[in-house]
Amino acid sequence: MKGAIIFSTKYGSTAQYANWIAEATGLPVFNIKDSKIDLSMYDFLVLGSPVIYYKLTIHKWVKKHLAVLEQKPIIFFSVSGAPAGPKLDEWIAKSLPKNFILKMKHVVLRGRQRPEELTLFDRMMMKIGGFFNKDPQARKEELQGFDLMDKSSIEPILEMVREL
Ligand SMILES: Cc1cc2nc3c(=O)[nH]c(=O)nc-3n(C[C@H](O)[C@H](O)[C@H](O)COP(=O)(O)O)c2cc1C
Repeated sequence: MKGAIIFSTKYGSTAQYANWIAEATGLPVFNIKDSKIDLSMYDFLVLGSPVIYYKLTIHKWVKKHLAVLEQKPIIFFSVSGAPAGPKLDEWIAKSLPKNFILKMKHVVLRGRQRPEELTLFDRMMMKIGGFFNKDPQARKEELQGFDLMDKSSIEPILEMVREL
C-alpha cells in the first residue's frame, strides 16, 4: 500500500516528527500548506498535528478533506505539552468529527515549547495561562518552556506503517 505523511505545525516540532517518520519509512512528507498534495494517490495517510490553545491545528484541513479521508486508513499523531489522558481526549473531541476519531489510530507524542521562539502574542498568553494554572507542572511548562521531543516515541507509528 502506498502512503504519505501530512502534517500541520506552528513552531516546527510536528514537522520534526513527520520528517523522522519519513526518514524511517521512506514515505513522502507534506505540510498542509503545500498545495501539491494529491490525496487520491495514496492508500493510507499518516496525519500529524500539534495542539495549540486546546485544539488540533489540522482541524480545518481534516474537515475540508473529510470525504476522501474517510475512505482511507488513518494513523494520527498529536503533538502536545499534555500527556495522553482525559484533557487531551477532550481537545481532540473538540477538534475532529466523532466518526473520524473512532476510525483513526491515534498515537500521542510530546512536543517542545521554547519561549524565545514564540510570537509576542503567544508569549503573553503563556505568561497569563501559567499565572492562572493550578497544576504546578503545567504552570512551570507554560512559563519556562519544555522539550519533551523523543525520536523513539514514533516507534508505534512505524509499526503501524509496517502492518499496512
Ligand atoms: C501558543 C501555544 C499554545 C499551546 N497550547 C497547548 C494546549 O492547549 N495543550 C497542550 O497540551 N499543549 C499546548 N501547547 C504545546 C504545543 O502542543 C507544543 O509546543 C508543540 O510541540 C507545538 O508543535 P509545533 O512545534 O509543531 O507547532 C501550546 C504551545 C504554544 C506555543
